[in-house]
Amino acid sequence: MSKTESDPVRTLTFGTATVEVLADAVAAKARLAARFAELAREAVAARGRFDVALAGGSTPQEAYALLGSPPYLKEVPWAHVHIWFGDERCVPPDHPDSNYGMVRGQLLSRVDIASDHVHRLAGERVPEEAAALYSAELGAAFGPRLPLRYAFDLVLLGMGGEGHTASLFPGSKVLDWQAPAAAPYVEKLGSPRLTLTPRALNDARSVIFLVTGGGKAWAVRESLKGNRAPAEMPTRAVRPSSGQVTWLLDPEAAAGLENASDGTPAAGA
Ligand code: 6PG
Repeated sequence: MSKTESDPVRTLTFGTATVEVLADAVAAKARLAARFAELAREAVAARGRFDVALAGGSTPQEAYALLGSPPYLKEVPWAHVHIWFGDERCVPPDHPDSNYGMVRGQLLSRVDIASDHVHRLAGERVPEEAAALYSAELGAAFGPRLPLRYAFDLVLLGMGGEGHTASLFPGSKVLDWQAPAAAPYVEKLGSPRLTLTPRALNDARSVIFLVTGGGKAWAVRESLKGNRAPAEMPTRAVRPSSGQVTWLLDPEAAAGLENASDGTPAAGA
C-alpha cells in the first residue's frame, strides 16, 4: 500500500504506549481522523455501536472538521456512534469556551447523528450536579458492563504543557475517585471543571492522545519517559485496562523523545 501523508514517519514504543510521529500537525490530525473511522467501523461491525469520548481544546478541532467532511461523512457509520465528552468547561453550550459548542460546530452540525446519541456534560448546571448526572448517564448506558469495563471504544485526549489531560490537572483530588465523572475545582484556572476521572478514561478499548507543538515536548517526555506520580503528571493516570494507548505527535511535540524508544519492540515490528 502506498504511503499516505497521514502515515507516521517514526513509530516508537514506551511500555504499552505506541508513539506515532507524523510529518507535521496537519498529518497528525489526519491520522487521528483515519484512526477514528477505522475504530468506529470495527466497533459497529463487532458490537453494533461505537462509544467515543472526545477531547476539547483547540488541537483536535481540525480533526473533527475532517470527520465532518468527505470521505468520513460516508465512511463512518454515524447512525451507530455515541458521542461523549472527556471534559467540559462550566459554561452553557453556546458559550465560546464550551467544548460541546466546539464539537457541534466542527462535527455534529455536519453529520447525521441522533440527538440522544450525543451525551453532553451540562456545563450550565451546578458542577457537582452535572457530574452526578453524567455518572448516572454513563451507568445507564453501560450498566450491563458495570464496572465500566470497556465502556468506551475510544477515548480521545489532548494534553496541556504541564501535563494535564481532560480536566485532570496536577494536584487533582479526583484521580482516585470511583465515580466516573467529577467536578474538581482547578486552582490554576480559578474555576471548576467537569471531567471524566481516570476510572472512566481507563475503561476504554483504545486511548489516543493528539499532541502537537514544541510547547508540549517537555510534558510528552515526562508522560512517556519520566516517572512522576500521576498527581504531578495526570497523563500518567491514563493506563487503560486494554493497554491500547497511542500518542499521535508532530515532530515538535516529539522533540523530547529524541532517543529511540525504550527498546520494547513495536507490535508487528
Ligand atoms: C480542554 C481539554 C484539555 C485540552 C488541553 C490541550 O477542555 O481544554 O479537554 O484537556 O485537551 O488543555 O488544549 P489545546 O488542544 O487547546 O492545546
